[in-house]
Parts: sequence; C-alpha cells; structure tokens
Amino acid sequence: MLNEKIAELLNVQINKEFYSAYLYLSFSNYFSDKGLDGFANWYRVQAQEERDHAMLFVQYMQNNDAKITFDAIGKPDAEFDSHMAVLEAGLKHERYVTGLINNIYAAAYEVKDFRTMQFLDWFVKEQGEEETNANDLIKKLNLFGSDPKSLYLLDQELAARTYAAPSLVL
Ligand code: FEO
Repeated sequence: MLNEKIAELLNVQINKEFYSAYLYLSFSNYFSDKGLDGFANWYRVQAQEERDHAMLFVQYMQNNDAKITFDAIGKPDAEFDSHMAVLEAGLKHERYVTGLINNIYAAAYEVKDFRTMQFLDWFVKEQGEEETNANDLIKKLNLFGSDPKSLYLLDQELAARTYAAPSLVL
C-alpha cells in the first residue's frame, strides 16, 4: 500500500507529465508553422518521451494497487514572440518538473517509502538530462540562430533526433 500523500503526489504527476507532452507538441506546432521541421521533430520526440513518463507513473501506481483519478489536461500557451522564447519556456518548464519530482522524493523519504524513492531515482537522472538538453538548445540557438544558413544546419541536426523507449522498465 502506498502512503496516501505519496499516492496523491504520484497521481498529480501523471497529469503534469501529460501536460508536458501537450506543451511540447505546442512547441512542435510553432516550429512546424515556421518551416523549421527539425525543431518540430525534436519537440515531437520530446512529447513522446513525456507521454512515456506519464505512462510510467500510471504503471507504478497500478503495480502498487493505488487508485488513479484523471484530471483535465491544461491548455498550453500557443503564442510565442520568438524561437528563443519557446526554448526558454522549455527550460523553465523542465526546472519546474525537476522541482515536482524532488518534492515527491522528499515526501517519500519522510515516510521511508524506499520503493518509491527507487522508482523516482530514474526520474531524478532524467530531469538532469532534460535540463541539460534544454540548456544546450538555447546555447546553440544563441550561437547560430541569427544566421539563416547556420539555422538551417541546426534545424537539420535536430531533424535527426529519433524516439527511443525509456530505459526504465517496471
Ligand atoms: Fe517528464 Fe520533461 O519531464
């Protein structure tokens, strides 16, 4: 049996991860509209990863016989002033999600729920990678974004990102 508060936090996280997928799809829509199909691809793959994160939380709760309730998924912002504004929103969002994961971890630690802590270890590492990726994108756009030819090459690089199923198996 999961502790009631832990189950509630995990349940909320399902919604947050599906929202993340929705948010990244809105980024993908933005770049597709601008003709930057590589960026659009990058965020579409990111959305698939977020859906996987949500599914992992669902499965962990199901495995632990915890009751799951679904809330409506929030509407993501669709208006951005610039390419950079999208990338910065991505980094800000990942930092927010890192905070959420850390909160659940701290709550699990408090009630000595070592199983949930072990489950969350993968997400702690994943969040580190996601923040790094979001930051790297910002750096690259800063370096190459103002020159159309370089932006084209960066877009080509991002077009190569492919989806891979998560390494965590429950
Ligand atoms: Fe599921 Fe990007 O955190």
